[in-house]
Amino acid sequence: MDIEQAMRRAVELSRAVLGTTSPNPPVGAVLLDSAGEIVGEGATQPPGGPHAEVVALQQAAGRARTAVVTLEPCNHTGRTGPCSQALAAGGITTVVVGCNEPTALAGGGIQALRESRVEVLTGVLEQEVAAGPLSAWLHRQGTGLPLVTWKYAATLDGRSAAVDGTSQWITGPEARADVHLLRSEVDAIVVGVGTVLADDPSLTVRPSPGHQPLRVVVDSHGRTPATAKVLDDSARTLMVTTGPSYGEERTLVVAGGDRVDLPALLKALADRDVVSLLLEGGPTLAGAFLRDGLVDRVVGYVAPALLGAGPAVLEDAGVGTIDDAVRLHLTDVTRLGGDVRLTLRRNGTAAAPQAAKTQGRG
Ligand SMILES: NC(=O)c1ccc[n+]([C@@H]2O[C@H](COP(=O)([O-])OP(=O)(O)OC[C@H]3O[C@@H](n4cnc5c(N)ncnc54)[C@H](OP(=O)(O)O)[C@@H]3O)[C@@H](O)[C@H]2O)c1
Repeated sequence: MDIEQAMRRAVELSRAVLGTTSPNPPVGAVLLDSAGEIVGEGATQPPGGPHAEVVALQQAAGRARTAVVTLEPCNHTGRTGPCSQALAAGGITTVVVGCNEPTALAGGGIQALRESRVEVLTGVLEQEVAAGPLSAWLHRQGTGLPLVTWKYAATLDGRSAAVDGTSQWITGPEARADVHLLRSEVDAIVVGVGTVLADDPSLTVRPSPGHQPLRVVVDSHGRTPATAKVLDDSARTLMVTTGPSYGEERTLVVAGGDRVDLPALLKALADRDVVSLLLEGGPTLAGAFLRDGLVDRVVGYVAPALLGAGPAVLEDAGVGTIDDAVRLHLTDVTRLGGDVRLTLRRNGTAAAPQAAKTQGRG
């Protein structure tokens, strides 16, 4: 196996642990022996557990010579020891790195490896790796905020429901199953109280992959009824208000004007180790996030159906003239059963690492 194939395999391994590693990065590692055969594979375990390199080293049991990793091995002792030392001690003579570590705290791994006479190749498939499972973590390091993906389902004419309010189901089973996969890969799902009042959604991943993202309801005035499914025990929930309480544990007060201040909410979620979040609705909250420039990625599920009337999937996003349209860059088009999934990112949204600013890994 060549090193690019091994790097792509490492990316694949890291995709499988998305949604379980925050605040740590989802890293993948592939170890090769002197003949280029895979002898170890690993991905970051939940916080406090071993990093990808250590998992792979254990599997390789001393046979590995080359380590291919999506992110520069850490060089600090957090909740686990430095991976750079573990690799050097494990008989690795060459380390191949996708992206460099952007934080000052965990950085220095490449230098430490070279000082231990380990050869290090950097920047291998860097753009591809940075745009993959590491993208939200890199975004969080660069901006201090979670990566926000607005997901919606709409008809071909951009409607989220019919005139009488019926909306189940706009898209087919394949698209709906894909939404659950998307949910399983993020740390939090965010909706406005309007969606809770209209649909009473559970906002859980089904079937459960063993972990559930944090459910976040933006509810300035405490209008969510005690019987709402989001308040059940199937996952953790954070009720975000301007004052009303749903109990100390599950209430986050984000003082602002009459409504929850969204930039302050994102900062507060980042402080709670939310690295990636899925904004699931509805048109009012999505418009407000876009108006505040807080949407980084859009995933739209478009059904081949026309309604001609009924609520739009997006309300006022602060655009008054065509020059101010929110321009997006299409990155993927996938057919799911009879529907189409469009993935877009905001122009200028950096997926690549920026300056070292925030916390390292533990
Ligand atoms: N097709 C889809 O993909 C999709 C997805 C989700 C929902 N929906 C549909 O959308 C409909 C509900 O629409 P909606 O617009 O009422 O729901 P929403 O956007 O989920 O909730 C809107 C509410 O969020 C609260 N909010 C808190 N802070 C806010 C802020 N800073 N800016 C804006 N709003 C803030 C507001 O209530 P307070 O002022 O009381 O806080 C506002 O009324 C339902 O029919 C549902 O089926 C469709």
